[in-house]
Parts: sequence; C-alpha cells; structure tokens
Amino acid sequence: MNQLRTQVGIVGGGPAGMMLAHLLHRAGIESIVVEARSRDYVQERVRAGVLEQGTCDLMHAAGVGARLEREGITHQGIELRFGGQRHRIDLSGLTGGKTITIYPQREVVKDLIDARIAVGGAIFFEAEEVSIRGFDGDAPTIQFRDSGGVQEIRCDFIAGCDGFHGVCRPSIPAGALTIFERTYPFAWLGILAEVAPSSDELIYCHHERGFALHSMRSPSLTRLYLQCDPNDSVAAWSDERIWEELHTRFAVAGGWKLNEGPIVQKGVTPMRSFVAEPMRYGHVFIAGDAAHIVPPTGAKGLNLALADVRVLAAALAKYYAGGSRDLLDSYSQTCLKRVWKVQRFSWWMTSLLHRFPADNPFDRRRQVAELDYITSSRAAAQSLAENYVGLPMEGPQRFP
Ligand code: FAD
Ligand code: DHB
Repeated sequence: MNQLRTQVGIVGGGPAGMMLAHLLHRAGIESIVVEARSRDYVQERVRAGVLEQGTCDLMHAAGVGARLEREGITHQGIELRFGGQRHRIDLSGLTGGKTITIYPQREVVKDLIDARIAVGGAIFFEAEEVSIRGFDGDAPTIQFRDSGGVQEIRCDFIAGCDGFHGVCRPSIPAGALTIFERTYPFAWLGILAEVAPSSDELIYCHHERGFALHSMRSPSLTRLYLQCDPNDSVAAWSDERIWEELHTRFAVAGGWKLNEGPIVQKGVTPMRSFVAEPMRYGHVFIAGDAAHIVPPTGAKGLNLALADVRVLAAALAKYYAGGSRDLLDSYSQTCLKRVWKVQRFSWWMTSLLHRFPADNPFDRRRQVAELDYITSSRAAAQSLAENYVGLPMEGPQRFP
C-alpha cells in the first residue's frame, strides 16, 4: 500500500471540494483531493448555471474570477410569468445594486481544477473503492485504489465533499445524524438547445400544465426546463413534444417568440429537500450536496455548497494559524443557519410555481394570489429578490 500524508484529505472534486482545496492552498494549508470520476467527466457534467452575487465575490476574492469576469453574463432581474402575463422582478433595484451571473457550474469546476494544477496541488481522478476510516479518533485516513495500486492518505481532517451519493455521509454512524427530508411529486426535464436565448433574463413560468423555466448558457445556447412526472424517462419526451409543451406553457397574451433549435442534451432531475445534521462527526466535516440537497427552483445548490466550504476553509485556517478549534466546533451550526434559510426559500419557490398533482382549485387560486402579491408589492418582491441574489455569507466577513 502506498502511503501519503497531508493536512486535509478532501473526498470529491466537484465545486465544493475544488473550492476548498483552493482556499486552503491560499491559506498555506496542504490538501489532497480524491475524485471518483475522470477530469473530463467532472468538467463536462451539465448542472447548475446561476451564481449569486456572493459566489461571484468569492471567486474574485480567491483569485479565480478572471474568466468569470470575461464570460459570465450579468443579470439585473428575472421574469415571473403567470396567467399569460409577464412581470419583471428588478433584482438590482430591490437589493441595492446586487446582481446574479450566468456562468455554468462546469466552468466553475474547470477554473478551480486549472488553478489546482497550476500550483502543483495533488488531485487523484478515477479513484475506486474510496473509503474513510479513523475519523472518530485523531488518525483519519482515506483509502482508494487507482492505476498506481492501493493508496492511503493520512490526514488531520477529512472533508466530505462527495455529493449526495458519496461515501462520507453514509460512513458516519447512523445514530449520529438526524435526517430531514421531503420529496416532491414531480421532476424537471432539462434540455440544452443550440439556439439564441429568447429572452435577456431568466423566466420562471407558472402554468396550469406545470412549471417551465427559460435560462441560458451563452448567446447561442439556451437551457430550458419543464416540470414532468418523476417517473418519466427522457425517451417519453420527443423533441416535438418538448417544443410543443414549452410553447404552450410560455405563451403570453400579445405574443412572445420562443426560439427553437437542435436539442443537444436531455435529462430528468428528481426534486428533493434533504438535510443531515450535524455537518460534522469527529474529524470528518461534510459540505455541499453531501450534507444537503435543495430542489433547484431557487438556483441554490451550487451556491450553498460554496458557502459551506468558505466557512470550513476559514475555520481550518484559524486552527492551523494558532491551534484554536472554535470555528471548527461551530462549523456545523454556522452552516446550518444558511442551509435552513436556503431550504425555506427553495421549498417556497418550488411550492409557488409548480402544479401539485393532488392540489385543488383553492390551492391554485392561492398560488396565483401569491404571484399577484409578489408582482404588485415592493415588500414581497424585495423578499424574493434578497434571497435570490443570495443572503449575506456566514462566518468571518474578511475571508479569504
Ligand atoms: P457534486 O457536484 O455532486 O460533487 C461531488 C463530487 O464527488 C463529484 O465530482 C463526484 O464524482 C465525487 N464523488 C462522488 N462519490 C465519490 C466517492 N465515493 N469518492 C470520491 N469522489 C466521489 N443546482 C442548481 O442550482 N441548478 C441546477 O439546475 C441544478 N441541476 C442539477 C442537476 C443534477 C443532475 C444534479 C445531480 C444536481 C443539480 N444541481 C443544480 C445541484 C448542484 O449541481 C449541486 O448542488 C452542486 O453540484 C453541489 O456541489 P458539490 O461539490 O457539493 O457536489
Ligand atoms: C438554472 C437552473 C436553475 O435551477 C434555476 O433556478 C435557474 C437556472 C440553469 O440551469 O440555468
């Protein structure tokens, strides 16, 4: 067995793991990242697309914001569409000038992997049979197998950044975690189409046939989502059926043109709210999707994952600078404050905009009344806007 030693062993090279490795490097702390998939796979996965103001600020403060600055598309508002009418929410006007930025998750991951490789930081891709041990005492290790054989990393701490289906959370004794969970009776069919976006801003659309979302990836690539049955496979959705349903749901009085183009990717994403508490057990700290999942309606999953590792990096930096464990000890509590506010917002946006199979005429009237309220009351719109652009970050304000 090949033995390695580092300060922080990081399981998972998604946005949370790669940002943590980068922030630790900047604080002079060594880490090793162990990722199950190949570099190409993690850099090409189609996932989230909206960065909060605070996430962009973090990318810039961490010195990985150059491409984001050049290629990110800044938005100052979003559209809520219901009853065949369009209503703009002026995010910037309602939040003292804050914005959101369209910059795909895979570009964030690419920038962070490039930064890691540029400084010669250790990262193992295509790691198999990954396991973590010894984290209830003070000799934690990560074991895995790769083309070089069996590897063991001894470390001071393990960061479980391995997503919802990773190994770190399930390795914690079941009785030590409390799980809070809700599933939804619908899913999202997501597509990428090679065509210019039909709107300059995102459109969240409430329709009696179900929710629809218009987003984008670039001036020539449109991202669209449709509420669908959670048991639907992509095979049930021909290109013709997708376009017909999108035209129906996005239709507005007075007309609006939805651009059609070749569909180059299709996928069905289940909807779930999930929190595991606490986000720490002994010497293992869990972060991002490993600890919590939000339904995607508020565009929060990626942003929340990066907020967690910012808190964790600051806590580890303080520990290694002077031995104080106080921020490590409060890590879970600090993160969970934000996690629950983001859970609430994501649940609320989801409940507001989707058609529930078991709902009744009362519920549908109530949804429309709420949409009407949000689009006619500054106070109500402001509450949506301040959550959508991102609540202030927890933890030390001057980090990194
Ligand atoms: P992940 O991105 O899941 O990264 C975890 C990493 O750990 C992965 O690279 C994985 O390969 C690796 N890993 C897993 N198991 C192991 C193991 N045993 N050993 C080593 N490595 C391991 N959010 C939005 O806001 N909008 C969206 O439209 C949206 N769409 C999504 C679509 C899908 C299909 C999914 C799954 C998520 C989506 N999300 C979306 C959520 C968002 O992408 C996540 O919140 C975000 O990726 C969380 O980052 P993370 O680093 O915590 O986890
Ligand atoms: C995107 C995804 C979301 O979940 C959302 O709320 C907004 C945009 C996107 O993929 O572009």
